[in-house]
Amino acid sequence: MDQNNQAQKQSQNSSSMAANGPMLANRNGNLTSLAALSIAMASVHGLLFKTFHAHWNSKGSCFLAVHEFTKKNYAILIEELDLVAERIRALDGMAPTDHATLSSKSILKEDHVDIYDALKLSRHLADSHHDIERQYQTFIKQLDDEDPVTADMFTGLAKTHGKLAWMYKAMMD
Ligand SMILES: [Fe+2]
Repeated sequence: MDQNNQAQKQSQNSSSMAANGPMLANRNGNLTSLAALSIAMASVHGLLFKTFHAHWNSKGSCFLAVHEFTKKNYAILIEELDLVAERIRALDGMAPTDHATLSSKSILKEDHVDIYDALKLSRHLADSHHDIERQYQTFIKQLDDEDPVTADMFTGLAKTHGKLAWMYKAMMD
C-alpha cells in the first residue's frame, strides 16, 4: 500500500471512530487538518525513534559522524512535534500522546530495529525523511483550500525533511 493510500485509509479508519474523537474527514470525505496533523505527529514520532536508534545503536567506521548528526536531528524533530501538537490544539483537537495511537497512525514502519550499520541507517533515515516529505506534499494539496495556514506549515516542514534526506544521503557518498 503506498503512503497516500495508507493516509487515506487511516483517515477513513479514524473517521469510523469519530464519535470517540475529533472528526477526521469532512462531509466530502476529504482529509481534514486534524487528521493530517495527527498522522504527521505520529510519523515524526516514529522517525524520532529511528533517529535515536541510529544515535545510540549504530556501529562502523561512520559511527561518530552519524552519532553527531543524529543528535542535531532529533532536536529538530522534537521541535517539529511541538509545532504540530500546538497546531492541533489551536484547531481545538487533542494532541495524541499514547503509544498505541502514535504507532497506528504513523506512515513509517518500525523496520529499523535490526539495522546497526551506520551507513545503512543513514540510507534508512534518508528514505524515511523522503517518505514524510512526500506525505506532507500530499497534505499540502489536500488542505490548501480549506486550511492554508496548516498547508503553509507543512510546506516549511516538507522543506526541512527534504534537506535532511539530502544530508543523510551526502554522508554516504
Ligand atoms: Fe547522545
